[in-house]
Amino acid sequence: MKDNIKILAIETSCDETAAAISKNGLNILSSVVSSQVDWHRKYGGVVPEIASRKHMEFINPVVEETLKEARLQLKEVDAIAATYGPGLVGSLLVGLTYAKALALALNKPFIGVNHIAGHIYANFISKQDIKTPVVCLTVSGGHTDLLYFKEYGEYEILGRTKDDAAGEAFDKIARYLGLGYPGGPIIEKKAKKGREDAIDFPRPFLDKPNYDFSFSGLKTAVINYIHNKKQKGEKLNINDIAASFQKAVIDILTIKTTKAALNKGVNSVILSGGVAANERFKEVLEEKLSEHDIPLYYPDLELCTDNAAMISTVAYYQYKKNEFAELDLNADPNLKL
Ligand code: KG4
Ligand code: ZN
Repeated sequence: MKDNIKILAIETSCDETAAAISKNGLNILSSVVSSQVDWHRKYGGVVPEIASRKHMEFINPVVEETLKEARLQLKEVDAIAATYGPGLVGSLLVGLTYAKALALALNKPFIGVNHIAGHIYANFISKQDIKTPVVCLTVSGGHTDLLYFKEYGEYEILGRTKDDAAGEAFDKIARYLGLGYPGGPIIEKKAKKGREDAIDFPRPFLDKPNYDFSFSGLKTAVINYIHNKKQKGEKLNINDIAASFQKAVIDILTIKTTKAALNKGVNSVILSGGVAANERFKEVLEEKLSEHDIPLYYPDLELCTDNAAMISTVAYYQYKKNEFAELDLNADPNLKL
């Protein structure tokens, strides 16, 4: 195989328009992310139609910027990659179609990448000597997936959410309280000033023997609590609500992840997705795992949330295995690992 493989990857599965170039997988030459959060904020969540239109507006400048940062021309790139699922179909189609058109015009191989595989690999970009096998928890606005990972291509889904994703629960509670979007960082800030044991919110699914999650019951319990307080004309303590809700989410994620790590006998636990930005969550999980001498790793902040660097890294491993895609590859909003 050729040396110094440079792959241009494009990621548009949700509301971030991103492009990046990697060299031999883990060496990221450039990574550009244009967030649309300001356009979605006033609606309290991602509006799919707006997301697709903004991707179309941003994709060209983002790709140009990433080439400029890497000091490369398109013709010097060895392959073009794009996320083809899971995600919002309209958003996925913008990046995928753009990447396929580039591959066709440049006569370069094309690689279709699974977004969740990208989140897993974000960890290995941040810290390259993580010992496998690992249990990986991906927690974002769209996913709560617990999986076992041995090496490229060998994944086993252990469990996932049956309803809302963990990040989605943060976003919905914040919206209900009129705090803004995205909810995670706002709730985390309020929670720092509140008491975690102030309100006893439920921790659904902890009695179940599997590794699945459910957050919609917890969300409803928080909303009912607020509603009841308001009906009685009682004052709301937003900081206590935020802290108690956040602790319920953290407990659920920590207990299930630790159980999975022990049962699978892994060497490490890795985190990915936007909720992995939550400091209190990392602190609690790290402490619990350390009781069993299992180290916890999480990507640098800019690699936790959606980006194309992680897509480019996965694409390199696919390149090495000649896993190229045809140009009729379609977007798959429900793509599984
Ligand atoms: O991975 P990401 O950028 O996008 C996808 O959803 O794929 O994750 C965004 C999600 C949002 O739901 C946001 O509220 C949540 O991650 N989030 C957090 C924090 N920062 C972002 N949740 C809890 N605590 C945080 N500090
Ligand atoms: Zn994501």
